[in-house]
Amino acid sequence: MRDHTREEFVAWLAENALTPRRIAVLTGAGISAESGIPTFRGTDLLWRDMDPAELFTVEALQAQTQLVWEMYDELRTRIAAASPNAGHTALAALAHHRELTLATQNIDGLHQRAGSDAVLELHGNLWRLRCDHCRYHEENTQTPLQALPPACPGCDGILRPDIVLFSEPLPVDALLQAREAAANCDVILVIGTSGVVYPAAGLPLIARAHGAYVVEINPFETPLSHEADFSIRAPAARALPWLAEILSAE
Ligand code: OAD
Repeated sequence: MRDHTREEFVAWLAENALTPRRIAVLTGAGISAESGIPTFRGTDLLWRDMDPAELFTVEALQAQTQLVWEMYDELRTRIAAASPNAGHTALAALAHHRELTLATQNIDGLHQRAGSDAVLELHGNLWRLRCDHCRYHEENTQTPLQALPPACPGCDGILRPDIVLFSEPLPVDALLQAREAAANCDVILVIGTSGVVYPAAGLPLIARAHGAYVVEINPFETPLSHEADFSIRAPAARALPWLAEILSAE
């Protein structure tokens, strides 16, 4: 494993006679960092002096509903004020040139706002709300929400964000499609994820086991770095524009 620059990436593709046609992508919170969205395990992780990891749980939602909803509402408001960055946009553009499957752990919807279609949302989306009692669900982009917690229009329950909280299972369809894409790609791009949350972090391992090359884009080393054939130690918004341009070329 070496750390590489643009020129070295071009040389590496040539050395391996590699023109990737099928590209799988796994993104994590790091791709949205330059849009001003805090990562999960970054230094900006405290919310009102609490660890969000402890608030992104079913238990917290049930026991501290009002407080947890205030956190979601603030996060939604912050994301609504943010814009997709050059990293999100580069991936949307690359999909016009290659067979690309984009799986994200992010719940912010920024890939879709950058123009990516058919995003596989492994951990759900903050802009969908649902009721676990009557199965009512809706798209909702209002920020801030009028009342917290939001009432369910279908029953006397309350709505929750349609996201995967700690210890909850991932949406089966999205996970299966992401695994299939990983098993059938030439290259998997692993972008801005700490690679510690499974099953999402298993996607690069599936790709590698099926003979694909693993390219990591992350300013810092991660537990997945030793699985990478090529590591770009740079912020996603800086590296992805040139990477996508190279990968798009015929
Ligand atoms: P983390 O916060 O764990 O990791 C963010 C990663 O992004 C780190 O490895 C950083 O080094 C990297 N990073 C920071 N800035 C970057 C930049 N500008 N460009 C590229 N990379 C950068 O976030 P995730 O790996 O997404 O799950 O976390 C995985 C899951 O943990 C989340 O989806 C969430 C949480 O539990 C659920 O909510 C279910």
